[in-house]
Amino acid sequence: MAARNRMPPWHESIRLANGREVLVRPIRPEDAVPLRAGFDLLQPDEVRQRFLYPMKELSAEQAERLTRPNTRREFALVVAEPQPPGEALIGAVARIAVDEDGRAGEFAILVSHYINGMGLGRHLMRRLVRWAKGRKLDRVYGEVLESNLPMQALAASLDFRREHGDSPGLVRMVLDVPKPKPRIRTPATQPLV
Ligand SMILES: CC(C)(COP(=O)(O)OP(=O)(O)OC[C@H]1O[C@@H](n2cnc3c(N)ncnc32)[C@H](O)[C@@H]1OP(=O)(O)O)[C@@H](O)C(=O)NCCC(=O)NCCS
Repeated sequence: MAARNRMPPWHESIRLANGREVLVRPIRPEDAVPLRAGFDLLQPDEVRQRFLYPMKELSAEQAERLTRPNTRREFALVVAEPQPPGEALIGAVARIAVDEDGRAGEFAILVSHYINGMGLGRHLMRRLVRWAKGRKLDRVYGEVLESNLPMQALAASLDFRREHGDSPGLVRMVLDVPKPKPRIRTPATQPLV
């Protein structure tokens, strides 16, 4: 039965170019332990590009915070092994958090070097923009190191523009979220008699 195979919202099974199958899904509290373990395998530069400063470890509190997004204003997806949450290794995390004014969302993304260069960064960014569209946000933006040309190229290819960042050495990539097309209302069906 088709419905049995249907995935829950924001879940997708993807086969990567290297043949590996991964699951894109919302982050779960059980991901905290694998997330911390995976953090130790990241290269210092990946960490600096994501968090904008060097970090030696992801503390239990930080992992807790990342894996329990406030669903009223935050959304986070992971790329995980197709194992149950808690057992599955996490290869990428992309999140968006809505600003205080409720109009813009700030993104942050990390696709680890084990699975980068296979389209996941682009895919996850598109998903974040879709979420922002659903929330009727005006803008999506992210602070990116000036030296981080791959992220700037990725964002630019998705129509983000480049603005001045919050501080020297940072650029802000900004997208005006396309408005959903207005629904065309079809006239109610008239009874035949
Ligand atoms: C930047 C990052 C998210 C890209 O993820 P990815 O899965 O490798 O990206 P994709 O495979 O979807 O590539 C999409 C685009 O990114 C750009 N890109 C990716 N890697 C690149 C590289 N090494 N050099 C130049 N451009 C690159 C290209 O525009 C590419 O498009 P193309 O494939 O049509 O050439 C990933 O490298 C990463 O997590 N880096 C560390 C953390 C970070 O920089 N976060 C951003 C700030 S929050």
